[in-house]
Amino acid sequence: MRYPEEIVQEVMALNDIVDVISGYVQLSPRSNSHVGRCPFHNEKTASFSVKQAEQFFHCFGCRAGGSVLTFIMKIENLDFVGALQFLADRVNYKLPEKEESTSAKEQRAARELSAELNKKAARFYHDYLFSEIPDAENARKYLDARGIHPALVKRFGLGLSPPMWDGLLKHLSDTAPQHLAAAGLATQNRKDAARYYDRFRSRLMFPIIDSRNRVVGFGGRIMDPNDKEGAKYVNTPETSLFHKSDQLYGLNLARKARKNELIIVEGYMDVLAMHQWGFVNTVGVLGTALNDSHVRLLKNAGCVSVLLMLDGDEAGVKAMLRAIPVLVKGGIKIKTLGISEADPEAKDPDEYLQKHGAAQLAALIKNAKSHIAFQVGLFKEKHDMNTTEGRVGFTHDAAQLLATLPSAIETEAYVAEISKTSDISQAAIHAEINKIKGIPQTAPPAALRRRVQATAGGRGIKKAKETLLHLVLTYHIAAKALEKSKYIGANEIGGGIYADLLTMAFDNARSGKQMSPAEIITAFESGEYHQAITEIFVEPPTYDSKVAVEKALNETAFIIKRAWALDEMQDENAKNDPKTLQSLGFMVRNMPSISM
Ligand code: CTP
Ligand code: MN
Repeated sequence: MRYPEEIVQEVMALNDIVDVISGYVQLSPRSNSHVGRCPFHNEKTASFSVKQAEQFFHCFGCRAGGSVLTFIMKIENLDFVGALQFLADRVNYKLPEKEESTSAKEQRAARELSAELNKKAARFYHDYLFSEIPDAENARKYLDARGIHPALVKRFGLGLSPPMWDGLLKHLSDTAPQHLAAAGLATQNRKDAARYYDRFRSRLMFPIIDSRNRVVGFGGRIMDPNDKEGAKYVNTPETSLFHKSDQLYGLNLARKARKNELIIVEGYMDVLAMHQWGFVNTVGVLGTALNDSHVRLLKNAGCVSVLLMLDGDEAGVKAMLRAIPVLVKGGIKIKTLGISEADPEAKDPDEYLQKHGAAQLAALIKNAKSHIAFQVGLFKEKHDMNTTEGRVGFTHDAAQLLATLPSAIETEAYVAEISKTSDISQAAIHAEINKIKGIPQTAPPAALRRRVQATAGGRGIKKAKETLLHLVLTYHIAAKALEKSKYIGANEIGGGIYADLLTMAFDNARSGKQMSPAEIITAFESGEYHQAITEIFVEPPTYDSKVAVEKALNETAFIIKRAWALDEMQDENAKNDPKTLQSLGFMVRNMPSISM
């Protein structure tokens, strides 16, 4: 469902950004902004700034930024529509309902009911765990023996399900059992559809809480030592509310640690143990492979790097190898730590902590390998390093891996290491990496190389793009002139959000529509886009005349075009086509002037 733009703008207008953010951050007024400590990264100085006039915020430290909607998306971990609803509720604004189809509305109501029932169930199990019943006492003893203290049991809302077929059903007897079944709390009898029984019996209950603080489901660990048949863990099945592949256990608490590194472990008990021993930035995957949804959750929690701390057995290593590309794609930095590598006797982080304590684990964490080192280590095991073939095979594998690294510094460091291990020269390894990357072995002419280095990909280009976009989004005459010149288009500006903004500027200029920065930001749904747009408006240059605008337009357009053309010249097809090369070369040197 998408709300019309006027509604979005109306809700934004009712929620002043300083007002809203003050509810989360202590802001002090400065001459043209309000400043405070950024809630999205750990900091001592105040680099978080809110501009009331323009209705956007920006952090000079972690570069988070956007409109009031972006802020709510980030801090409450909501999507665009969720944040809009949140802000509408805040000011008692009634969002129109007609756009939501009847079935969508029913589904939402069903999800809300499930969440409510899960919460009631969580309370019931929790109270049961702290009751005087012998089973409950045993369960408390069990937790105690495993080093989980009552305060933590309470923080995680752990519970115990009674050893009955209808404990919860009776407790919630005023709810129709099919609703409990839809919430994953009860199961329908296969033979007699009118009969239901509790899904969870005699299990230690781990409520799973989502980013909106709703109890969406449970993990239940077997407690009864005589139950030889039951699975060790029973989870809530997939319901309209619960999808185990897009939840991270403990994230609701871990995100409060406000660390930009999160630790990922495999089990419920591991999350508990980690928190118990002070590693409160730990989350758990619920017995599934790490996927894009997890990455989105992590990023929404402000996470920029993760430590994958999986069990380190064969399955754990496989899981790490599968998780690495998913995280790399999400732009999250990765370190890895295999527990059984550190201590073959310890199967998981929980066991390691019981045996060695927090200080030793902290030391392991401090020395955790990057995912590259981890993978290189695996290649070393795969090949027989005592033979020439083995060392060649190892070097080939390593070069494939290093070719994926964006950073030259990192590449350099690993090449040195691999050269030592394999006894193959660094130059040969570099040549191999370049071959994989498709980089020509002969050096480009020095003059061109210098220019590429001076411009391509640098901070200067980004700044030029931001300045140009600010110009065309602010001054219609600049947008019209640029569009007419056809000098900079979607490709030159770099595609993605920048291309979208360029199109928006051209459209606005044609229709005469003037949009504020906050309006531009919320015309897009993605939080990453919001950040990119905010950077354009956060400290724009000022112009005192039309001439100054024109001059800036020409200068930035030239820088962008030149960087683009230089980039194009590196393309294989262009290289083999003298005509293309010539015309690109012409663009690098010449610039038609754009006049407004
Ligand atoms: N798991 C599951 N269903 C199972 C077994 C495991 O969903 N039948 C998931 C759970 O999320 C569990 C994780 O896989 O926490 C790891 O399993 P395991 O290592 O067996 O459990 P631990 O959490 O280590 O529990 P304990 O220490 O009590 O054995
Ligand atoms: Mn365990």
